[in-house]
Parts: sequence; C-alpha cells; structure tokens
Amino acid sequence: MTLTADPTIGIARNPAVDSTLAQAQRVVTGDRPTGPLHLGHYIGTLANRVRLQNQGIGVCIVIADYQVITDRDAAGPLRDRVRNLVAEYLAAGIDPDRSIIFPHSLVPALNQLMLPFLSLVSEAELHRNPTVKAESLASRRSMSALLLTYPVHQAADILALRGTLVPVGQDQLPHIELTRLLARRFNDRYGSVFAEPRALLTRAPAVLGTDGARMSKTRGNTIPLGATEDETVAKIRAARTDSLRHITFDAHARPQVANLLLVIAELTGVEPAAVADEISGGGAALLKQRAAEVINESLRGVRRRRLELLADPTYLDGVLLDGVLQARTVADSTLQRVRQAMGMDYLCVQGDPA
Ligand code: TRP
Repeated sequence: MTLTADPTIGIARNPAVDSTLAQAQRVVTGDRPTGPLHLGHYIGTLANRVRLQNQGIGVCIVIADYQVITDRDAAGPLRDRVRNLVAEYLAAGIDPDRSIIFPHSLVPALNQLMLPFLSLVSEAELHRNPTVKAESLASRRSMSALLLTYPVHQAADILALRGTLVPVGQDQLPHIELTRLLARRFNDRYGSVFAEPRALLTRAPAVLGTDGARMSKTRGNTIPLGATEDETVAKIRAARTDSLRHITFDAHARPQVANLLLVIAELTGVEPAAVADEISGGGAALLKQRAAEVINESLRGVRRRRLELLADPTYLDGVLLDGVLQARTVADSTLQRVRQAMGMDYLCVQGDPA
C-alpha cells in the first residue's frame, strides 16, 4: 500500500519521509460500528493505521456511532459491536498506550462544534457532496437531515481533535475537502484557530468479495477478520473465478482472479504478476489454496489475540473510557478556543473547563 500525493486537495505525502514532521502530526480516522471488520478493512485501512502509529504518529480512531443512524432507523447492538471493533483494532496492532479509540457520542464538545460549523456552509454545498448522494441512493429512502449534514459532523470530529492527517479511501475525499473549507472559513471569519488537515489517500485496491463485487458487510461476501481458518478455506474455495486454465494477472479482463492475486500480493509483499507466474498452470484451484493459506497465516496472530481480547470485556471498556477522557480533554480545549474566537465565552459556569 503506498500513499499518493495530490496537492490540489491537500493530500499528504508519506509522512514517514520526514520524522520531524511526524512529531507534529495527529492522525484522525474512524469507522461506523455497523458490524465486524473484514479482510478488506485489514488490507485497506487497518494495516495502514498500525503503520502510521508505529512511525510515531498519534492515531485517534473515532467510533462513529452517531453515523450509524444516517441511513437506518436503529443504532443496533452497539455494546457488542463496539467492543468487537476495539478487540479487532488492538488485535491488529493498535496500541492503546500510543493511540486513542473512542465513540464520538461520548464527547459532547465535538457535537457542540457542529452548530458554528453548520453556519459556515450552505445547504446547496451540502447537497453537492457525491458520497452523500451515493449513500442516500443506496439507502433507498428519503435523505435525512443527518445524512445530509454528517460530513459537517465528521469535520467536527477531525477539527475538534486537531487532526492533521486523515487516512481515507477515495469516497471520503469530499468530506476532507469540506473539513478544510470549514477550517478556512472559520479562520477567515473569527481568526486563526484551525490548521487545515490533509487527506492521506490509501491506494490499496478495493478488495472484492467472494462473489466478485466489492467486499462489503451489506453484501455478505466478506472474509471476516474473525472467521476461522476452515471458514476462510471454504469461503475462498467458493469464490468466483473464471474458466481459463492458466493464472495470469489482468485486472481488467480477469477481475476475480486478479483480486485473489492482489490479496496474496498485499499480504506477502510479492508483486501480483509474480504470484501469477508462480501459480500459472496450477489454475484456480491452486490459486485459491494459496490465497487461503496466505490469509490464514497472515491473520493467525490477529485472530488469536482477537479471541483473547474478546474474553476480557472489562479491559476493552477500559480502553474506550481512557480514550473518551483523552478525547474530551482535547475537544473541550478546542471548543473553548472556538468560543473565545467567536466571543461566546461571555459567561463562565463554575466547574466547566476554563
Ligand atoms: N465517515 C467515515 C466512514 O464512513 C467514518 C468517520 C467518522 C471518520 N468520523 C471520522 C473518518 C473522522 C475519518 C475521520 O468511513
């Protein structure tokens, strides 16, 4: 996975190249707690977050629980889902001593930032967000005001925590552009409070599911991180490929075969064309066998730690509570600066953060 640069929308270069720069960076990323993580998350984002953390950059992971109800009626079994997410982050290598994980519903200051931010953007601008439009269409219901405004809430997550780097997939770029726009507009109107965060575009190929479509929870075509080795073998064996005998790497003409090759490549660091050469006449059967082996080997430690962690919910809740306290400290002080800049700090309530 490489990090690409596009100066037009403030996408960062790989921050590892400059370790002094790394000191000042803070990564803010997030997930909606709608279900367990899968291989697509692992390859696409999780491994990348762990890498950034291990480069010495502070990583904040927002569990975006309020975002669950942007496109459905109920938040679902949050306690189990959130604990499971925490176990999966930690199992994959997120270290709670260096990174923080917290649900955004427990940090009131960042919700309060939403109000001044909403005043800085027009309804028409919100309606132009292509990701919101796509999510609205996919939900097959009329767009809620929360769906329309959640990118502003996401900007509040990022800016309240003073994130400077936001590792995201392509679909999230409009939200980062909006975050930058809100920071600029706020600064222009009230004086310089916010730094403009940059998107760190993850160029990991979108991992296809076992049916050949994009891997996603809603399609039920995933390899969950928590699947057993046997389940993984069975799922990969049932994955769609094509009828050509020889294995070659051709992302256009042979997307399903290419997908398995890319999964092996991402997990082993070997180029996909080289993996194809090696398998060649072994055909789809050997390709699937190799893919299942590589996935199981790569995830073995993660899966073992995941189960150990899930057996200790008190510990997992403690990690979250710790994260909440740290996030509140930063977000409260950001809100305080915002209120000062706006002239809204005209009355102090005893006991509130000064
Ligand atoms: N909208 C993001 C997603 O669907 C989740 C998210 C919420 C997020 N808050 C964030 C991502 C802050 C980055 C930063 O994946």
